[in-house]
Amino acid sequence: MSLEKEINRRRTFAIISHPDAGKTTLTEKLLLYGGAINLAGSVKGKATARHAVSDWMEIEKERGISVTSSVLQFEYDGFCINILDTPGHQDFSEDTYRTLMAADSAVMVIDASKGVEAQTRKLFKVCGMRGIPIFTFINKMDRDANETLDLLDEIEKELGIETCPMNWPIGSGKNFKGVFDRREKKIVTYSDTQKGTKEGETHIIDYSDEAAVIDCIGTDAKDKLDEDMELYDIAGAEFDLDRVRDGKLTPVFFGSALTNFGVEIFLQNFLQMTTTPLARHSDQGLIDPVEKPFSAFVFKIQANMNKAHRDRIAFMRICSGHFDASEEVKHVQGNKNMRLLQPQQLMASERKILEEAYAGDIIGVFDPGIFSIGDTICNTKENIKYDGIPTFAPEHFARVRQIDTMKRKQFVKGISQIAQEGAIQIFQEISSGMEEIIVGVVGVLQFEVLKYRLENEYNVEIRMEPLPYEHIRWIVNHESVDVSKLSGTSDMKKIQDLKGNPLLLFVNAWSVGMTLDRNPGLELSEFGNAM
Ligand code: G4P
Repeated sequence: MSLEKEINRRRTFAIISHPDAGKTTLTEKLLLYGGAINLAGSVKGKATARHAVSDWMEIEKERGISVTSSVLQFEYDGFCINILDTPGHQDFSEDTYRTLMAADSAVMVIDASKGVEAQTRKLFKVCGMRGIPIFTFINKMDRDANETLDLLDEIEKELGIETCPMNWPIGSGKNFKGVFDRREKKIVTYSDTQKGTKEGETHIIDYSDEAAVIDCIGTDAKDKLDEDMELYDIAGAEFDLDRVRDGKLTPVFFGSALTNFGVEIFLQNFLQMTTTPLARHSDQGLIDPVEKPFSAFVFKIQANMNKAHRDRIAFMRICSGHFDASEEVKHVQGNKNMRLLQPQQLMASERKILEEAYAGDIIGVFDPGIFSIGDTICNTKENIKYDGIPTFAPEHFARVRQIDTMKRKQFVKGISQIAQEGAIQIFQEISSGMEEIIVGVVGVLQFEVLKYRLENEYNVEIRMEPLPYEHIRWIVNHESVDVSKLSGTSDMKKIQDLKGNPLLLFVNAWSVGMTLDRNPGLELSEFGNAM
């Protein structure tokens, strides 16, 4: 197959959702369609997804690699599909956000009885920042669901994206009859015998065959559907693929991942509408995935929890060309030619060594400590540097000190290295040294990981004092603002990052707004500069 065909048949996306909306179940069902039946169930299962903090450490140690680091690749209908797992639950961290930087589109799973929830909102913001296409799967229609129009309205208002339902649910819960395909004007009937791999009895009924429609869904459901469609056709957005590709309009599908209803319809439509690997911005302009030789960027670094082997895995998204494991490539930031060591694909708990891969694919490589998040690796004539990955606002903060003052050197080394991997962010009080460090994390589990790793890898015990702040803002125009003169709220704290850039911490979102009001011209951002 030609290079162009190999690349253009790739679809690389992340699934985002609030915990329990059905991300794992949907992923499993998608894998079934890819024929990877044995794999369904090996996706981060309940047992690992619900583990407590201490178990998490055990799991990490046993596997020697994070359970959260998987990319699932499968073939379907000529497409080569890469699903990027975005860790959720307790292991929600900045990595969850960074993973989105490696995807070309996102699938947002929403629980039909809950609507838009907190974590979806946060993840959506990051997708929105990149302007990637977002597809919505409204799940759990086999349970009582919110009104369809209300759900669509909520997505539009809360997330600021227009919706275009590709199909429309007929009833929900015990009365769920199936979906109406708006383009084909057909009903796809639901049967709840479709658990697991078993084929259920799905019928397709032409909507013009009124008798058959009434026979299947009943007069009441038909009247309601007609009414809903009439309302929607007046008020709703038209389907427009360009707007989908720009991330302005989300196609919406309804289904039930658990009973495997609506999943294949979703998959088929999604594959047609989503993009081939996207061109990416670099200091040399946009890099075309097909025309340029191999290039990739590091979006995640996973430290091995195994104390005996302090190795790390760097995850790279291939942005252009063909990766051949036998060829030398250039690590641009390190200014070194090298062969990538042990290039591998990570499927749930398994690792497979790779000989080759293409733009759109994700590979993990052995990292002896040379890569940083955002680094570019390439085989192009001139060096290119991809735009860096921003730092995302942590939401939990703690003041950290080493207990034994004699161990200051190890403490600083350890905490700096862990921060460099991107697991935590570190800050200082303005004009203070490294004695007292303020650590910020996106997910609280990272505090436990920090403590564990400092003790086990660096032999340093620490004391952590939680701080009440939940909002951090970078000062975009700090060069033209006199930070010492800022007039903030009483709960505001001024800190700085290790490069001396000033930041502000706030206890609540209201104070952020108040501080902006009091300081005309001040520009604050939730995203830090690219690393
Ligand atoms: P997550 O990865 O987004 O956190 O969600 P996950 O797939 O683990 O699903 C969360 C719970 O919701 C699971 O139930 C799962 O079976 C259920 N679920 C997922 N999709 C559907 C659906 O379409 N309909 C219904 N009715 N339930 C669904 P659980 O009781 O927590 O686990 P389990 O005992 O069923 O495995």
